[in-house]
Amino acid sequence: MTLTEPTTTPKTTGPAEPAAPAEAILLVGGKGTRLRPLTVNTPKPMVPAAGVPFLTHQLARARAAGVEHIVLATSYLAEVFEPYFGDGSDLGLHLEYVTEAEPLGTGGAIRNVASRLRSGPDDPVLVFNGDILTGLDIGALLDVHRTSGADVSLHLSRVEDPRAFGLVPTDADGRVTAFLEKPQTPEEIVTDQINAGAYVFRRSVIDTIPAGRPVSVERETFPDLLAAGAHLQGMVDSTYWLDLGTPQAFVRGSADLVLGTAPSPAVPGRPGEYLVMPGAEVAPDAKLSGGTVVSPGAVVAPGARLHATAVLPGARIEADARITDSYIGPAAVIGARTTLTGVVVGDTAHIGPDNELTPGARIWCNTTLPARSIRFSSDE
Ligand code: GDD
Ligand code: MG
Repeated sequence: MTLTEPTTTPKTTGPAEPAAPAEAILLVGGKGTRLRPLTVNTPKPMVPAAGVPFLTHQLARARAAGVEHIVLATSYLAEVFEPYFGDGSDLGLHLEYVTEAEPLGTGGAIRNVASRLRSGPDDPVLVFNGDILTGLDIGALLDVHRTSGADVSLHLSRVEDPRAFGLVPTDADGRVTAFLEKPQTPEEIVTDQINAGAYVFRRSVIDTIPAGRPVSVERETFPDLLAAGAHLQGMVDSTYWLDLGTPQAFVRGSADLVLGTAPSPAVPGRPGEYLVMPGAEVAPDAKLSGGTVVSPGAVVAPGARLHATAVLPGARIEADARITDSYIGPAAVIGARTTLTGVVVGDTAHIGPDNELTPGARIWCNTTLPARSIRFSSDE
């Protein structure tokens, strides 16, 4: 990659002019393989969290930060986004959709939507991974970008185990010194700061990404920019941050949205222990806690106890079921007295009564699990 001219911060002499609202690119083309079965029929950003497709939270948060124009870079199951979000006017946004014929990777996807951007060469363009739940102060990231004069500014988060992420060490001034995507060896783990999946690009930098072929922004664009002497600036903070790459993370994220621990203007209700959406039916003596959501058309029968669990539209939880930290897919049925802990149940699956499923179990869409007929003496 070649960079144009080295860039410096424009020095302003008079009072700061109000900045025009930045526009944004949302990367929503990934397959979400690790999230199956949630993503068998639904692309990852459309999987509901706290009662609405996850993407709604990101769009609403961007809107709240003043962003008006967002281009969605889609690939896998692209056809479902536009019918749901349309032109974005319900959210006060102007949305555009660009679908890749073949997945172009994160950098290729950014480059592929460049023709839809309205920004001038030096204007900031926000880029968001489409699977991040965060309290990021988007305005603060834009401020860091402006004041540092960086070519690209990155939101960084600190995590205990950085191996699944892009490692981003910075110097004393917050300037990025390296970019190590998914480190393989202990020697490569040089920091606990990771790429949190939100960037501000100087628009002209986007135009330098090669067009028409797959490019990874993490493995190619960022390292090449660093090698070319570009200024990449990091903004580390300690706000809420969660990559919704696994079913358990999705369950946690949905519960945190309901609880209000994860901030989003798009949660359809007030923060609290549970959210029962219009058209859901919950027996008066059922117990809901820990950020449980019960979606429209779902039924929770008497005596059921649900903790930190998402129940999707049309699902049925039968009497005295005990469900913790789980995701119950659309129109799935959980039989009476069944206990689920840390379980993901795919669309329309049917789990018979008296079953007991332990953390990590994933029940595929349409599967039927018969009632547990053998009872053990230890059950008594
Ligand atoms: N349009 C399009 N086309 N989008 C894509 C493509 C593609 O070919 N490939 C991935 N995406 C989207 C995904 O939908 C997701 O929103 C985002 O790009 C990042 O891809 P993931 O597949 O989720 O990457 P990751 O989680 O392994 O790693 C990324 O995120 C981490 C933070 O969660 C990297 O950016 C890491 O550096 C970062 O730490
Ligand atoms: Mg991810």
